Amino acid sequence: MFLAIVNLTMEILTAIGLLFLGVLGNSWFWTSYTNRIYSLPIPSDRLDQYRIVHDIGMLTVPFALLFSLIRVSMTSHHEIAGIALPQQNENWLLAPWLLSGAGLIMLSSTLLKRILRSKPPGFSVDHREIVHTEQLLGQKSRGEGPYQKLLRVPGNQAFSPEFNEKTFTFDRLPAEFYGTKLLHISDVHFLGTIDRPFYELVFEKAQQWSPDLIVFTGDLLDRPEKIEWIDTTFGQLHAPLGCYYILGNHDWHLDCDPIRDRMADIGWQLCGEKAEFITKESGQIAIAGDERPWMGNAPQFNQVDERIFRMLLSHTPDNINWARQHQIDFMLSGHNHGGQIKLPLLGPVYSPSRYGVHYADGVFYEPPTTLHVSRGVSGKHPLRIGARPEISLLTLLRRAS
Ligand SMILES: [Fe+2]
Repeated sequence: MFLAIVNLTMEILTAIGLLFLGVLGNSWFWTSYTNRIYSLPIPSDRLDQYRIVHDIGMLTVPFALLFSLIRVSMTSHHEIAGIALPQQNENWLLAPWLLSGAGLIMLSSTLLKRILRSKPPGFSVDHREIVHTEQLLGQKSRGEGPYQKLLRVPGNQAFSPEFNEKTFTFDRLPAEFYGTKLLHISDVHFLGTIDRPFYELVFEKAQQWSPDLIVFTGDLLDRPEKIEWIDTTFGQLHAPLGCYYILGNHDWHLDCDPIRDRMADIGWQLCGEKAEFITKESGQIAIAGDERPWMGNAPQFNQVDERIFRMLLSHTPDNINWARQHQIDFMLSGHNHGGQIKLPLLGPVYSPSRYGVHYADGVFYEPPTTLHVSRGVSGKHPLRIGARPEISLLTLLRRAS
């Protein structure tokens, strides 16, 4: 009797353990699927359809896993570790387990890559400040836009961005640019769910750093009428070496021409496919923009001497291999929002990249390119847990030889 109770307990615990692994693998499979789909230039209505496939898979497969466990335990005489295997005519019960197994393999690969990722040389985070905007504004800056329920999720950090200061070192930065303070802003997603005062405060605080150079790496608008916000946000920023920007996939879903016109009106320069030079005294660096795969073509650095420091603004970090092949020194990206949610041990979850969550945020050194991926200021879905919004001041120094 006692042994029977022990055996039954072991069987139940094993089944719970298998179910946990199955649900974990299934969840990772569908988030990986979504991440890769959203890295592609697909119209938003089609993306919504693919999203439904994600939702169905995420919600139904766990029930199939549970059903298969119950089914095999009731019908089979063959057992492994107390859990019965399906009979020959019930092999279909293995299908959800194969899918979950694929998810677990992908998850293991992701975690291994993260462990093996090398630390960028000459890089440091010097200062971090969490700005609780609701305290400074007297209330949470909620607007009338969609996804209001997300703002009420406990632990949502969408209203508390991190202002951080980081130092980078480079081999061929000209002497005139030593100590350049570069403000990197990305992914503001003007939609109306988070209201204008939040953004005006963020931009005001960013300008207090008195940056030398400012870049914005895309995803400006989610609603066309919010173009009116540009003047009191981006219009606040100015820097002696200029303000440069590119647009992102959310801008691509709208009409980009009015955005570009408005940004030109306030003195921001669109970083095009052809590299431009930024000059300081007798020193020069080159900068170009890359809005692929949604817009434009590969940037042209043909006219740039190979000794000149090269910067690239690319909305998605997925263009990293192109950057490496074209000797880009410093690539600045956004798009992945730090994964929106970071889980303990597992890390970032939703990152619309062909590389999944690998480039969700942070600094990467893949010679000769250093890549800075900003978590951005906001997102169409304003949910940030463990992936706090980010505004960065980057100081550029020369690497000691
Ligand atoms: Fe974005």
